[in-house]
Amino acid sequence: MGDLEIVYELKVEDGKITGSQKLPFGDAPIVASKIDGDRFELTVELESFGDMQKATAKGKIVGDTLEITPAFPKPPEGTGGPSGGPPAIFSGPMVFHRGKPTPSNRAPSLDYNSLEKIALPALREIPSNGLAATPPMGWNSWNKFHTDIDDKTVREIADAMASFGMRDVGYQYIIIDDGWEGRRDDSGRLQPNSNFPNMKALADYVHSKGLKLGIYSSPGPRTCGGFVGSYGHEEIDAKTWASWGIDYLKYDWCSASRVWNDDQMQAVYQRMGEALRASGRPIVFALCQYGRARVGDWGPKVGANSWRTTLDISDTWQSMTSIGFSQSNWAPFAAPGHWNDPDMLEVGNGGMSTSEYRTHFTLWAILAAPLIAGNDLRNMPAKTKAILTNKEVIAVNQDKLGRAAESLSKNGDVEVWVKSLDAGAYAVALFNRGSAPAPVSLRWASLEMTAAPKVRDLWEHAELRSDEDGFTANVPAHDVVLIRVSP
Ligand code: GLA
Repeated sequence: MGDLEIVYELKVEDGKITGSQKLPFGDAPIVASKIDGDRFELTVELESFGDMQKATAKGKIVGDTLEITPAFPKPPEGTGGPSGGPPAIFSGPMVFHRGKPTPSNRAPSLDYNSLEKIALPALREIPSNGLAATPPMGWNSWNKFHTDIDDKTVREIADAMASFGMRDVGYQYIIIDDGWEGRRDDSGRLQPNSNFPNMKALADYVHSKGLKLGIYSSPGPRTCGGFVGSYGHEEIDAKTWASWGIDYLKYDWCSASRVWNDDQMQAVYQRMGEALRASGRPIVFALCQYGRARVGDWGPKVGANSWRTTLDISDTWQSMTSIGFSQSNWAPFAAPGHWNDPDMLEVGNGGMSTSEYRTHFTLWAILAAPLIAGNDLRNMPAKTKAILTNKEVIAVNQDKLGRAAESLSKNGDVEVWVKSLDAGAYAVALFNRGSAPAPVSLRWASLEMTAAPKVRDLWEHAELRSDEDGFTANVPAHDVVLIRVSP
C-alpha cells in the first residue's frame, strides 16, 4: 500500500457504500457515497489537529482490480503538507488485486477496541541526558527510501558519510526510519525483518566508521507504515536497542492517536523517556508528534532532545517554505539539549533547484534545527555536497548559544531572519521568496548595533563591505544571502 498503511472496510448495499477509511492516525467513517458505474466516491469524516473535516476518496473497479485514491485531512497553515493534499510519499491511487495480497513485513491489522490499556506514569521531570548540546546532525532513510531500506544500503550510506567529508563537518547519526521492524519473539523482544539480518553487527559497523546508529518506533501498537510499534513494550524495546548499540530513537506518534488523546501525550512520551534512561545507554530521544499538544512546554521534561513541529515535509519549494517560514514562534523553545525539528532535509532529492535547496539549508541552519540529510549520499553531485558540507553555515547551526532564528521583517516576498550567535554576533538571512531578483535590506539599528559591524557572506565565503547604517543585498529569485555580522 505504498508507504503509509491505509485500511478500507467497505460494504456495498442498496446502492450505497458504508464502512470506514483507517489511516494510522485514526478511523474516518464514511458519511456519504456515490456510485456511478464502475466508479465511486466516498466522503469520510476525519480529524486534523483537533478539527473535524470532510474529504473525498475516489475509486474505480476495473476487472479484478480496485483502485482508491485516499482522502487525507487538510493540515492547518504552517504544519506542512502542500496545500493540504496527501503526504508527498503518497503518489497516485492504491491498487488492490482480487486474491493477491501484497507480501509484506507489516504487522497484522489490529482490533483497537479490544486492546489492553497500559498504565501511564504520573508526570514528572526526567533530568536531561546531557546529549545534543548542539542540534543533532546526521542522515535518515525516510525522505529518499521510505520503507524500502535494508542493511546493505545503511552500510553504504555510512561508508559515504565517512569518506565524502560529511562526518568531518559534523554529521554523526545514521538513522533507520520506519520499515526495519519484524515480529516479536516469544519473550516479547522485537526482531528486525529480513532486510536487517543482524542489527548488532550493523551498529558495530556504523560505529567502526566513527558514526552512530539511530532507529525508529512508535508509542502506538503500529507505526505509521503499519509495522509493529512499542506499545506496552517500551522497556524491553529500549533494552533491546541498547543491547544492539543504538544511539538515537525517533519516536513517532502514529497509531498512538487511536489509543490516547493529546492530553495524555506527555505521559506516553515520558514512558519511553524513562525506559531509555533505564536502558543504561545514552540514546538521543527525538519526538515526532507533528508539533501537537504544545510539545515545546513539556518536551524537555520527558527527556526529549528534539520534537517535530510540523507534519511531513516533501521535496517541493511550496512544502519546504510553508514549513520553514512559519517556525518563528517556536524559537523560544530551542536550547542546548533540546531542539525544534521542522522535519528532515530534502536537499539533493531532486525536487528543488540549487538556490531553493540553499534556501532550505539556510533556514534549517538558522532555525537551530537538527540537520538530518535525507538524500542518497552514495550518489551526490558536487552542488549537493557543497550545500550539505558548507562549514560556515553549519557553524551557525551548531553555535553553542543554541538560539533559534526569528523573523525580523517581512515585506511581500522578502524576509529577513536573525539568529543570535555567541560573542554578540548574529547570523542574518536575507531571503527572496519571489520569482524575480529583489533587493533585501537590513539596518544595523534593528540589531541594536550602533557602529558598522564586520560582515561575512557565508555562502560566498567572503568579507563584505557594509554601509554606516545598514546592508543591502540583491537576492536572486528563490534564493538567500546569509551573512554573519559581528561587532
Ligand atoms: C511519519 C513521520 C515520517 C516518517 C513516517 C514513517 O509520517 O512523520 O517522518 O517517519 O511516519 O512511517
